Amino acid sequence: MDEELKPANDPDRKEVSVASFVRMKSENRRIVMVTSYDYPTASIADAVGVDSILVGDSYGMVVLGYENTIPVTVEELLPVCRAVRRGAAHSLVIGDLPFMSFQVSPEEAIRTAGRFVKEGGMEAVKIEGGTEVSEIVESISRIGIPVLGHIGVTPQTATLHGGYRIQGRNVDSSDKLIADAKSLEEAGVFGIVLEMVTEEVAKVITETVSVPTIGIGSGRFCNGQVLVLHDLIGLYPSFTPKFAKRYVDVSGTIKQALQNFTAEVRNGIFPEEQHVFRMDEDQRAKLDSKRKI
Ligand code: KIV
Repeated sequence: MDEELKPANDPDRKEVSVASFVRMKSENRRIVMVTSYDYPTASIADAVGVDSILVGDSYGMVVLGYENTIPVTVEELLPVCRAVRRGAAHSLVIGDLPFMSFQVSPEEAIRTAGRFVKEGGMEAVKIEGGTEVSEIVESISRIGIPVLGHIGVTPQTATLHGGYRIQGRNVDSSDKLIADAKSLEEAGVFGIVLEMVTEEVAKVITETVSVPTIGIGSGRFCNGQVLVLHDLIGLYPSFTPKFAKRYVDVSGTIKQALQNFTAEVRNGIFPEEQHVFRMDEDQRAKLDSKRKI
């Protein structure tokens, strides 16, 4: 069995590292990444044996209910990182640097990345952007913090440009994406997320760079796949993107449970005998006799 895929209760299971990511690409083993924003789901993902858990800035949307990822802050994400860290014993944990926490200068980017490692317990950080953030990526990598790149649709800026548009539909866009990927590779990333890139271009990028590509809506030829947990378990009420597969309907399950609870409370069915606490018999007898006086 692959070392990185051994179940959590296997004493020989190794922690997944940045080096494992690159090795997995060279050994043609697909990388599995999922987002998580809390201790219980991080524990489940880790026990299942996912390779990596991303504390995505998607937390702002799927948990906090913001319209997009722009408002979410470092202060909001750090406690989330700590909770995920506590649940993840083996998976590589990566924190997403939120909008305007790294763009202003390499110094500020290093400071923010450092907080994700030191205060959030993250082992790596993710940064959105291509050539324009290469200098920042280089600065963070140089001080020893591993960086995951993210190109294609980059939600932090896509919102400002009027929405999510599939990238790599034509040769000009393809050239730009390949240049971005190469520039991130040279800057020292250990992997690159490709979001909503055409399958053809994602394949070219995957074959061009030495570091693994992790696709989200970018087809079948990436070295790994990432999905937002709430999309794959059906827990985001607003919408499910076309590229996401919903494996279970957790919203439906929660709704059913709450409808049953509501009906049982209103009809006096819950709580039942097994849910109540009782006094000892002698104490109860004393209580009864007191009430008779
Ligand atoms: O924030 C996030 O969840 C992400 C993934 C979509 C890769 O960036």
